[in-house]
Amino acid sequence: MSLAVITGAASGIGAALADVLAARGTRLVLADVDLGGLAETAVRTGGTAVPTDVADPAAMDALAEHSVGARLVCLNAGIVGTAVGAPWEVPPEDWDRVFAVNVGGVVNGLRAFVPRLLATDEPAHVLVTASLAGMAVFGGGGAYGPSKHAVSAVVQHAAMALAGTPVTIGMICPALVATGLSAEGVAASTVAEEALDAVDAGVFAVVPPQWRAAVIAQVGSVVAGRVPVSPVPDSR
Ligand SMILES: NC(=O)c1ccc[n+]([C@@H]2O[C@H](COP(=O)([O-])OP(=O)(O)OC[C@H]3O[C@@H](n4cnc5c(N)ncnc54)[C@H](O)[C@@H]3O)[C@@H](O)[C@H]2O)c1
Repeated sequence: MSLAVITGAASGIGAALADVLAARGTRLVLADVDLGGLAETAVRTGGTAVPTDVADPAAMDALAEHSVGARLVCLNAGIVGTAVGAPWEVPPEDWDRVFAVNVGGVVNGLRAFVPRLLATDEPAHVLVTASLAGMAVFGGGGAYGPSKHAVSAVVQHAAMALAGTPVTIGMICPALVATGLSAEGVAASTVAEEALDAVDAGVFAVVPPQWRAAVIAQVGSVVAGRVPVSPVPDSR
């Protein structure tokens, strides 16, 4: 039976990844700062709860020490922040915390896990929860969108650096998902199922099909020298 690690496992997409993986027979190490929610996921899935702040490099190192033998590492924890609006309207502490959790959490995870995974010389995968907000620019999202663009870049850099090794990395870039972070959107269980199927299929980035043309059009607009406008999904 294989072993997987999930950060942000107390709620939403992380909890759904835990449920799907447990149903598929995977043993779990579950990390979060929400100790109540973490305990609930652990009881439901039979996983081991390891309270962890992903923004803390030492805590992520300790999580990796708890997870010897893991073949799947899901770096999923994230926050929106308290402020939305234009970049200059977001207070410094919000920029710091959103980047510390969303970007720092992924970088700390890579620093803690990748050298250990490479040392085993066996196949392993890192699955990062990025966002559609890291593929395209939507107006008024505070520090969240910029942090997710950084996450996407970190994942792409890591993928290039890992080429030719038994360790792979990929990301999911969901649009709205109904979780603790968003009142509306698709079910977290659907996102989790699709994410894990994509891992099995070797898909690098999961972007909702109805948003792909809009993402490409926005990049095309910028490289052509025009100011971007908020993308809209395909209605077909
Ligand atoms: N919900 C959406 O619409 C949506 C869309 C795209 C991407 N995402 C991403 O999905 C991921 C999961 O979010 P969610 O939507 O399931 O929200 P959620 O709030 O339900 O779950 C996020 C979990 O991360 C945990 N967390 C927050 N800060 C942490 C920290 N410092 N250390 C450890 N755990 C921490 C929270 O306690 C929570 O359990 C995030 O990275 C988010 O950016 C969400």
